[in-house]
Amino acid sequence: MSRKPSVLVIGSGLAGLFFALKAAEEFVVTIISKDGLDITATSYAQGGLAAALSPEDSEEIHMRDTLEAGAGLCDEEAVRILVSEGKHLVRELIEMGMPFHLSENGEPELSREGGHSRPRVLNALDQTGKMIQNFLSEKVRNHPNISFYERYMAVDLITEHHMGEVRFGTTCMGAYVLDQKSGEIKTFLADYTMIAAGGGGHLYPVTTNPQVATGDGVAIAFRAGCRVRNMEFYQFHPTAFVPATEPPLLITEAIRGHGAKLVDSNGNRFMVGVHPMAELAPRDIVARTIDKVLKATGAERVYLDLRHLDAAETKAKFPHIYETLKNNYQIDLTKDLIPITPAAHYMCGGIIVDAWSRTDLEGLYASGESASTGVHGANRLASNSLLEALVFSNRAYLDIQAKAGEEEYQSRRSMHAAIPLWNKGGAENASEWVLVHHDLKEIQHIMWDYVGILRTRFRLERAKRRIELLYQEIDDFYQRTVLNREILEMRNLVILARITVFSALSRRESRGLHFMQEYPENRTPSRRDTVIDPAFLC
Ligand code: SIN
Repeated sequence: MSRKPSVLVIGSGLAGLFFALKAAEEFVVTIISKDGLDITATSYAQGGLAAALSPEDSEEIHMRDTLEAGAGLCDEEAVRILVSEGKHLVRELIEMGMPFHLSENGEPELSREGGHSRPRVLNALDQTGKMIQNFLSEKVRNHPNISFYERYMAVDLITEHHMGEVRFGTTCMGAYVLDQKSGEIKTFLADYTMIAAGGGGHLYPVTTNPQVATGDGVAIAFRAGCRVRNMEFYQFHPTAFVPATEPPLLITEAIRGHGAKLVDSNGNRFMVGVHPMAELAPRDIVARTIDKVLKATGAERVYLDLRHLDAAETKAKFPHIYETLKNNYQIDLTKDLIPITPAAHYMCGGIIVDAWSRTDLEGLYASGESASTGVHGANRLASNSLLEALVFSNRAYLDIQAKAGEEEYQSRRSMHAAIPLWNKGGAENASEWVLVHHDLKEIQHIMWDYVGILRTRFRLERAKRRIELLYQEIDDFYQRTVLNREILEMRNLVILARITVFSALSRRESRGLHFMQEYPENRTPSRRDTVIDPAFLC
């Protein structure tokens, strides 16, 4: 082989960086990050990483809890892989030096979150994601086989489509990428491409996600010809603190695992009697119950109550949340109630991948929130997402490692010479930016009002009509405008909105996160995934 295979990684959260570090042992790796390397959803994760490490736990119990939360829609084989391989990879992360919080016996301390029947969540107090991100970023920054480009955003994946007439190619050969500083669109050719670009929380106006979460991974893969699955299952985190002007602050579920109660504005504990696990019921049930309480009482918030807990212990376990609420909002969580509301949090569906993270396109892999491995079903179990990223990024690496010398990869590389530079067409600088900002708000409000926690066919049909119109307008704007990050994000978000609405309309039952008022109790007996093929929607 003349030179080492090249790997392009789109996204720099846990899924992207863990994959990059593995791949860099043998290959030449390039990471592109839409913002700074550390501006990712991983950095925002508070609770942690679920793994059945405790002697009172087992892979079977972890699997049972995952399937139960997933409301009958998980792929059992994918869950089995998750819980068994996950344990070993968590140990590997510890051996690499990741500083998880330890208990007195020197073992990682395990906390509880919604839907977990055992303490299972490894954490770094309430800033687990940030610690993992810093830990991996540091390794990436110092790795001789990894180059990384910050403020580089993927515009489109490169396939045979760019070499001729075909609408959808079958092979991915890298990506066209916007350098946000120069405004130039550059060609990044690669033998293997990994999409690890996170989710799309900004589909909704209230989200726990960072600003970068605009569904880019799913949108670019879908446009290139990849099918996506189960996009109607958008998870709302039950407890976000939403200040008037600042972005929402996630209040980790581990705080309920620690003993916090949920109360309404009259001080009533409303989760008791709704589910045997009360406040620690799976997330879909807690978020839906909060939504009902808010609608029934007309209040804007319900509350987390920690006043009965040992104040020193609470402060020691949740220092970041304690300090942020106290210093910025004058709320002392050991003495005051915390006002909270549900917020868009996690996309349970995504790009269809197999057990080795392979998508529909040769040479293209997906991992993390962008991918649908089948482990989350209709509702993700808390703290399974970082575990999923570890397991399926590792599997993608193993697949590439096994394939790298094969003919299929050699023949892909022979096509690289025929890839043209990005065609700017007749694009001009746009003068109607006010319309773009308005379109973004409109998408978010349509999604919140009509495709949120409680849905009806009437609202979904209404959403579909409006989103279709916005899609046409945004596509038209995209075709004639000099590209920048804002227009690319909008183009991606409206595609995400379209797919989500189509998926929601096609599921005529209530299951997990998809709750239809017409069929409140109705869960059809058969397991059916919602698969959207780009050939039907593009
Ligand atoms: C949390 O800490 O509550 C979020 C954890 C997760 O979404 O998995």
